[in-house]
Amino acid sequence: MRTHYCGLIDEALIGETVTLCGWVNTNRVQSHVVFTDLRDHEGVAQVVVDSDMGALFQAASGLSAESCVRVTGIVRARQAANDKIRSGRVEVLAAEIEVLNKAEPLPFHAHENAGEETRLKYRYLDLRRPEMQRMQRTRIRLVQALRRWLDAGGFQDIETPILTKATPEGARDFLVPARLHPGEFYALPQSPQLFKQILMVAGFDRYYQIARCFRDEALRADRQLEFTQLDMEFAWVRERDVQDAVEGMIRDVFAEVAGVALEAPFPRMTWAEAMRRYGSDKPDLRIDLELVDVAELVKDGGFAVFAGPAADAHGRVAALRIPGGASLSRKQIDEYAAHAAKYGSKGLAYVKIGESGEIASPIQKFFDEHQFAALLRHVGAGHGDIVFFGAGAYGTVSDFMGAVRLKAGRDFGRVAEGWRPLWVTDFPMFEWDDEAQRYVALHHPFTAPAVDDIDDLRANARTAVSRGYDMVLNGNEIGGGSIRIHRPEMQRAVFELLGIGAEEAEAKFGFLLDALKYGAPPHGGIAFGIDRIAALMAGTESIRDVIAFPKTTSAQCLMTGAPSPIPDAQLAEVHVRVREAG
Ligand code: AMO
Ligand code: AMP
Repeated sequence: MRTHYCGLIDEALIGETVTLCGWVNTNRVQSHVVFTDLRDHEGVAQVVVDSDMGALFQAASGLSAESCVRVTGIVRARQAANDKIRSGRVEVLAAEIEVLNKAEPLPFHAHENAGEETRLKYRYLDLRRPEMQRMQRTRIRLVQALRRWLDAGGFQDIETPILTKATPEGARDFLVPARLHPGEFYALPQSPQLFKQILMVAGFDRYYQIARCFRDEALRADRQLEFTQLDMEFAWVRERDVQDAVEGMIRDVFAEVAGVALEAPFPRMTWAEAMRRYGSDKPDLRIDLELVDVAELVKDGGFAVFAGPAADAHGRVAALRIPGGASLSRKQIDEYAAHAAKYGSKGLAYVKIGESGEIASPIQKFFDEHQFAALLRHVGAGHGDIVFFGAGAYGTVSDFMGAVRLKAGRDFGRVAEGWRPLWVTDFPMFEWDDEAQRYVALHHPFTAPAVDDIDDLRANARTAVSRGYDMVLNGNEIGGGSIRIHRPEMQRAVFELLGIGAEEAEAKFGFLLDALKYGAPPHGGIAFGIDRIAALMAGTESIRDVIAFPKTTSAQCLMTGAPSPIPDAQLAEVHVRVREAG
């Protein structure tokens, strides 16, 4: 149909006849000449038709944007060269133009800043845009580079089921009714976790899969209902074996695909240190601001909001000094408080120190002069600064002060250029869920505790540390994994601590407990979020930009209209009756 790609014609073809196919990118009609930029997968070519060409000139003049056309003509040198593109020194003098499919007026144009809803409804038009093409291709190159690395490293690519049994990774399951088993359901995998562990028991040694995962959870810029993991598992390993291997992989792939040299080795930080200094288990190290604990200095003060948490073992009082922050207006300070409130704060105290040292603070009155001065000294506050304070439960204060830190980092231009990877290690094994009045697994229930002794784990569950680890890059959790439990007794004990009784454990995970009985080697692994890594490499904030057909934050596909109602007859076949909403 064509002899060349539009974007690839160049001076070597001058004098030759070529046939190009593509979309009408732009069409500039002048009195004596029509310039049509024709676009295909490789780029654009300029097509020229002179007014002495009669019918051809008429046809070219009437080409609508994004119509599909086939052009045959002679390549010649261009008068005004465009050196930004490969085809920029030549043009095609058309002898024949065939309109393969005339496009109707478009809902939006490539150069317009259309709203995301419109872009998602007409995703094919959106994806035609060079910027979207660039981001998709970054993702494609990322996956190619990963596969090359893994295949060369002897990892086995093995598929695991999509119709399966629920694996708890902390989200809700998507369920699929089983027609042949009335009243029963398959679950879509939240990850291939248990299958990959069982593959280690089955002797595959090193596994990987580019695996689609499904989690019915609240959507955000970095979360989708279905997303893609690079899922990996290794037999006969300890933490460092897994970490060193995959750190090398990530470094190689960033160098190859993004031309980025990540530092070596990645710094390591315990979860406790990350929470203390950055209020986050995925700290963005590009921002130089740090939290400072001030409980010791406020526990005896007259300010009950601080004194309470300061005296409580599970409480926290933390300060964040922002150099230059005294410039914040009352309204801007209120915006910070509102931001913190989204992360659970009940208030955000502050001390503003003007350029000449004048203090503005709603909490100064609660402290005596010496105590107040000592507090400011402790956080290193000086003229021109603002200090924010958070008090309350340890986790809540860390969360909202961590969020304030990120906002301040952005607002005050304190996000350094570059790439800051790190490992976060030594996560707590369990989190206490106040509502459910039980422990939940911080990673997943198959993660091994640091202690080998079951009684020790039972006695110290609240403070127990796990053998889990996350890889973090510029404040994004790009991968998470752990060394797994490989002995059935320990797995049973952990289920029990999570409130999963023996019977329930047998019903849900009997196959795993069985597999662990028959010679399960020590094993561990990790899974990386491909969408997140691709978004980072492509330089976009949202993983939706690197997913060809993503869902909106309200969990819909605007192009196809999924989800959608199903006729009763079809529901009856799978033994499902829909209840009245409400
Ligand atoms: P985890 O739940 O940490 O671990 O997931 C691994 C990585 O997958 C990415 N990710 C997501 N990306 C987009 N949308 C989502 N909803 C989403 N959820 C997670 C993150 C995350 O780091 N089975 C374990 C892995 C293991 O232990 O080996 C697991 O799934 O980048
Ligand atoms: P109040 O005495 O309630 O007016 O609070 C005085 C200041 O303390 C206000 O600026 C509140 O925003 C702030 N504040 C209240 N609760 C907290 C909290 N848990 N952490 C930090 N600051 C708080």
